Amino acid sequence: MSSDNNNDSQMCIPGMGENKPRPRVLGTSFFGYVPDAFSNDGPDFPSAKATVSSASPLVNLSGPSPLPVPIATETLPDDINPDSTKFEANSRGTTEEAFNESAQNRLIIKNGKVVNSDSVEDVDIYVEDGIIRQVGNNLIIPGGARVIDARGRYVFPGGVDTHTHFQLPFMGTCSIDDFYSGTKAAIAGGTTTIMDFVIPQKGQSLIEAYNEWRNWADENACCDYNFHVAVTWWSEQVKEEMAELVRNHGVNSFKIFMAYKDVFQLNDKEIYEVFEWCKELGAIAQVHAENGDIIKENCQKLLAAGITGPEGHALSRPEDVEAEAVNRACVLANQVNCPIFIDNLTSKAATDIVATLRKQGHQIFSGPLSAALGITGLSQWDRDWKAAAALVCSPPLRVDPDTPDFFIERLAVNDLQTTGTDHCTFSSAQKALGKDDFTKIPNGVNGVEERLMLLWDRGVVTEKLTPSRFVAVTSTNAAKIFNLYPKKGVISVGSDADIVIWNPNKSKVISAQTHHSKCDFNIFEGMECHGAPEYVILGGRVVVDEEEMKVVQGYGQFVPTDPFPAYVYDTIKVREEDRKPKGVNRDGTSSGLGDVLPPQLKATVPANNGEASVPAITPEPKEQVSPTPQSPVPNGADYSTPTRSYHASHFTRAPTVSGGRNMQDTTFSLSSDYPSPADLEASGRRTAIKVRGPPGGQSTGLW
Ligand code: URP
Ligand code: ZN
Repeated sequence: MSSDNNNDSQMCIPGMGENKPRPRVLGTSFFGYVPDAFSNDGPDFPSAKATVSSASPLVNLSGPSPLPVPIATETLPDDINPDSTKFEANSRGTTEEAFNESAQNRLIIKNGKVVNSDSVEDVDIYVEDGIIRQVGNNLIIPGGARVIDARGRYVFPGGVDTHTHFQLPFMGTCSIDDFYSGTKAAIAGGTTTIMDFVIPQKGQSLIEAYNEWRNWADENACCDYNFHVAVTWWSEQVKEEMAELVRNHGVNSFKIFMAYKDVFQLNDKEIYEVFEWCKELGAIAQVHAENGDIIKENCQKLLAAGITGPEGHALSRPEDVEAEAVNRACVLANQVNCPIFIDNLTSKAATDIVATLRKQGHQIFSGPLSAALGITGLSQWDRDWKAAAALVCSPPLRVDPDTPDFFIERLAVNDLQTTGTDHCTFSSAQKALGKDDFTKIPNGVNGVEERLMLLWDRGVVTEKLTPSRFVAVTSTNAAKIFNLYPKKGVISVGSDADIVIWNPNKSKVISAQTHHSKCDFNIFEGMECHGAPEYVILGGRVVVDEEEMKVVQGYGQFVPTDPFPAYVYDTIKVREEDRKPKGVNRDGTSSGLGDVLPPQLKATVPANNGEASVPAITPEPKEQVSPTPQSPVPNGADYSTPTRSYHASHFTRAPTVSGGRNMQDTTFSLSSDYPSPADLEASGRRTAIKVRGPPGGQSTGLW
């Protein structure tokens, strides 16, 4: 397929065919690790070591830098004509044969400042066969390797963009960047792995859609990629196909839409069931969080009032429409203990909900739309229709001028963990489909090339983010959440050699004249960013070489992901145990609710038993009373949030058997002596515990 034909929406729907997964040439394990002359180590990421291959002369890197070895001759030119020079079988394997014969499969990056999410070190990196083999000082390595001097540069893991839409059939057209131009743009900006979305039509088989997307990407992607699969309708078939995708197709995340009514949107019951199923499968549930029902109503009213321009899009989707959906998604996910990833926030209100619920223990991950780090949505009110329509995306960019800084600050403190671009570009001509009706303007903006530069410029240059936090946000956290880590998202022995050499002193002015997207405009046009990639290395191959593009169509690999990422599911498993509901034992042997409450609630069981002003720690053990059927544990009580005032009002710790302070166990009484919360409310009695003694005992000093 020519990568230049994508204006034609037909090109989005190529003939299907069997999915032909490409062999992974760099090994068969999940991490693509090939035991080699260096060691017998498997994929468990040993620390850097200085053993060497006997096949090559040795170079001791502690000595003076060897002269750079010229790049091997099979390096391919930028922008290869896809039809004439695409590698046969489009496999990195085919490419790799030639690649491995040359010195280009050996690379040393010297003198750089190597930044991981948890460290900054002045160390060298040795790469062979696409894998990082050594990290450290005074490395002893084989000769014949290319040396890149990274003095004065930062060296960090290639970016992982969690959210792109290349050649997406959408709103009567197809996004203009396909898997060739889109991934090329990604690489130009320092991103080496993208995660795109398979979005089946309602009623379409998920597997069939997955195979379509795989074919598009396998043929064309210049960087590595993975897929989230959208659940746009709900049935037994969909459930089975989700399981099949997890078991046999390397998918570990599913996306639901709360917006796009009548197209992709699911209702709450369906969402609940999808979340429940995702949790069973060990998958991450992703959410487009906007209230589609409200939006539909708003759109109709705005159009009826004669507002047909791009500002209507923003007006139809105010901040609280995003915030409401974020909250609802979190509530639904929490009922079934499913981890969720909320895509591309654009508002402060939605962010505050995420931050609050995360502090309460909800397993939520999220981040701002990358575009929202660099610009606001004010231009949607521009008199120039084209400029206004360029910004139309969902959720919309907000007009509040503080929003970009707000997002950087929230990323800095881990209220938010990643930033994805939602790169979904439509040309001016495509945007003009909505010339007379804003609801027909194809939604989407660019960002895959600009994401790292924006975050560096707005975050690191301003000293709001450390370089390590920048790495966490641009690659490590995404890799951990989606189970790509430590293959991706870290500079470490055994990891893929996906590496960016970043020049903090270089400035770049973003422009459609120079960007790599096929879109005829760039929403960041004219913006100057300080800091830019100078070299980008993908699987050991230098694909941006002193800013010269050397991408290869089809060189990108599909990266399968396993379910149950430990980073996410370890907590889910603990919560699952803690939240198991237990019935009341009424055979007379029960010692009270202390036996049946989940552990988090035990920590809050009262000593005061509902008396508003008794000390929190009572010296006398109180006789346990068999619970009555009218349990005061509220329906839907959030066992994960022991500090909620409801629980704190009615439960405190009982003393231990010996009468000492009990910091672990709990007791609980439901005798009719003790009023229920409703009783307390009704009688107007206080429900808050008056703490006479602070934790740790009474003190006369300050507390
Ligand atoms: O505006 C956007 N985000 N377009 C792409 C489709 C979607 O909502 O993710
Ligand atoms: Zn999207």
